[in-house]
This record gives sequence, structure tokens and C-alpha cells, in this order.
Amino acid sequence: MKTAPTISIGICGLGTVGQGVWKHIERARPELEARLGAQLVLARASVQNLKKKRDVTLKPEQLTTDPLSIATDPSIQIVCELIGGTTIARQVTLAALKLGKTVISANKALLCAHGPEVFSTARKHGGRFFFEASVAGGIPIIKALREGLVANRFRRIYGILNGTCNYILTRMEREGLAYPVILKEAKELGYAEADESLDVEGWDTAHKASVLAYLAHGTWVSTRQMVVEGITQLTQPDLTFARENGYAIKLLAVIERDLERDVLSVGVYPALLPITKAIANVNEVYNGISVSGDIVGETTYIGRGAGQDPTASAVIGDIIDAASQLVRGGTYLPTAPATKLALTPPAALRSRHYLRLDVKDQPGVLAKIANCTAKAGVSIASLVQRPSEKPEAASLLLTTHECSEAQIRLTVARLARHSCVLGKPLLLRIADF
Ligand code: HSE
Repeated sequence: MKTAPTISIGICGLGTVGQGVWKHIERARPELEARLGAQLVLARASVQNLKKKRDVTLKPEQLTTDPLSIATDPSIQIVCELIGGTTIARQVTLAALKLGKTVISANKALLCAHGPEVFSTARKHGGRFFFEASVAGGIPIIKALREGLVANRFRRIYGILNGTCNYILTRMEREGLAYPVILKEAKELGYAEADESLDVEGWDTAHKASVLAYLAHGTWVSTRQMVVEGITQLTQPDLTFARENGYAIKLLAVIERDLERDVLSVGVYPALLPITKAIANVNEVYNGISVSGDIVGETTYIGRGAGQDPTASAVIGDIIDAASQLVRGGTYLPTAPATKLALTPPAALRSRHYLRLDVKDQPGVLAKIANCTAKAGVSIASLVQRPSEKPEAASLLLTTHECSEAQIRLTVARLARHSCVLGKPLLLRIADF
């Protein structure tokens, strides 16, 4: 009788996600092995601290503090890189790929910074690289873009790619809590990055946007080439204004390709999104992505974007794809051929805007504000005045008609210098998709 082949798996980084992968493979093992026709061996895992208490039990000889020893272990075929960051994670990934191994990664920061190197190393040495868990947690958006929607050219991909920020914004809006309180909970729930500024300053979303832009268009866009803004300046009055005017504020990644002029733009920023849009109703830790293809039209994907279980689900999906290829042969359809699309300069992007200004509550202030917008050719669409927490001051909440990023930036810079404007103005885009 023929014995079933064995697929040996090493996990570099047995943290929240790594333990989830271990636990759920053990739980689903009979079904997975029956479908694969192969045995899955969870061989070894690397950790920072051997003594730390964990949800999963490993024999002492299965644990190491050296992830490179797993990447280069000849008995291990599939290396899961769940360490994060771009230093040790890069060494582990490249070392395994150079040996022709399969690497499963959840590491969007590594891809964004070193994507071309990772893919070319895999190609050169016959290694395989899978990265479903790098974007949008449990949503199989990588598969959707590289397989299901392969016939399309993508005019716009936009959505919520950071579960932590969406969780914070949802709870701020519903419960009126301040963001640091909710961030603490998001960390306890295993949603936030080890360095939470990656979440709240928009960098994690930017890394994921870079991965999606590459998959959809074959061009790597670095974070230096994007507008990247986070959610730390948002306050209750902004969320209330948005709700009262038919919008939700969401931290969006927006990837747009002008198919006629063949230029690309990638940006990350909190925006007022009409509540009639499905993405505006994606709340808590959920991510939501709208993909508009020239053949398929708009498709929308919603699911939990962070946390142990959804991310483990994506990693295990990749492990099973990889194991199936190892058992039966074959490879994934390669990603889009590399291109170097021209990028729209951020200053040329056009949008309507929302502005919040704290101003001195005095005669003539509105005239001065209107003078600043007029000088930059920016037209005010609406204006409301609300009480400010500052003494003898008022909050002005403005919306503008469509203008360029350059015009609105000039306006904000002039306003910020004005003695009647107190503190830094807040500028948000209105996403009229
Ligand atoms: N910190 C990330 C998030 C985890 O909140 O979405 C998934 O990448």
C-alpha cells in the first residue's frame, strides 16, 4: 500500500497568528489531510521567549529562538513567516526561498519595502511565495485579484484595510469614547500591530495598498509616493458632522488607475464616505474592499480584517494551496508582469473636502477665512459654526466644492498662519465614488 506523502511545516513567529495557525491545523487536520491526500506535520516553531505561556503545547525540542534554523532546516518544506517587520523577517524569507522552499507570509510591510527582491528570489531559486494573509485578514482578496478577476483592468480599488482603525472609529462614533481608550482594547484583542502607530498613522493600510496595487497593476508604489494620513486627529465633532450629513468617516486606501491616460494613484487617508456605500457600513474590526473591474463591474468583499482567527484562516488557506502544489506539482498563476506606470502627482488629485477650524469668536473672522479660500480658488459649499471647547472660540465645519490637493493645501497653510485660527486645522477628503 502506498503511504501518504508528508508535508512538513515550520512556523517562524509563534505569536497571536502563529498560535492560531497551529491550533486550527490541529483541529481541522482530518479534513485537510483527507482532501490533500498528504500528512501535515507541524514540525517546529520559533519564539522570542521559550518560557512564555502559550495556548498551544509544543515539545521543548520543537521550539527554538532562531527562526533562521527553521528557514534552512532541510526537513521543512513550508516556512510560515509570521514574525513581522523587515529585518529578521526578510532574512528568513530570502533564506528559505533561496533553498527553493515555500514561504507563507502575512508580512505586508516586508512586501511593500522589498516586494521585487522577494519575488525575484523566489523565481530565481524555484521557491514559492504566498501572501494571502498580508492584506485584509480573512478576506481572500489576493486570490480574488490574481485568479477570479484576472480578466479585468481595475479602475478603482478602495476600502478599509485596517481592522484596528475601523474598530476605533466605530466605537468612537457609537460610544463617544476617546481613541486612546479604544486602542488599548484593540491591542488586548490582538488586532493592533506591535507598534500601534503603524495602524493609527495609516502605514499598515499603506503597506497593504501597495500590495494590492502591485497585484492589480504590476507596479510597486512605495509609501513615499503616496499621501498617507492616519486617524489620530479625528474628534467627536467630525464624526457627528459626518453622520448628520449622510457620511461615515473611514480610513480608506484608494487605488485609482486612469485607463485612458494610463496613470496610477495610491493614497491612504480618513475620508467622508456616503453612507449609501456598502464600505461605509463596514464596522468594528471588519475590512471592506470595493474592486471595480472593466469587465466585472463593482465587486465588494467584507470580512474580519485582523485578529488571530481570520488571519490564521488566510495563512492555512495558503498552506493548503502550497501543500497541494507540492504533492501534485504545478504552480500558481504568476502575478501581473512588472510595469512602471506613471503616478499621478498627489497635488493634482481632485476632491471635495471637509475642514474643521477652531477660530476666535470675533467679528470679521468669517470674512478672513473666506478670503483665504477665495485666494486659492477654493469654493465653500457649506459652513456651520459649533461651540468650541476652547474659551471665546468657535469651531467652524466647512465643506468645499471640488478642487485640487494643491489648492486645498495652500488654503490650509494660509489658514494655519492666520492669528484668528487656533491650533491646526483638520482636513479630510469627501469620497464621492
Ligand atoms: N493591525 C492590523 C489591522 C492587523 O488592524 O488590520 C492585520 O494586518
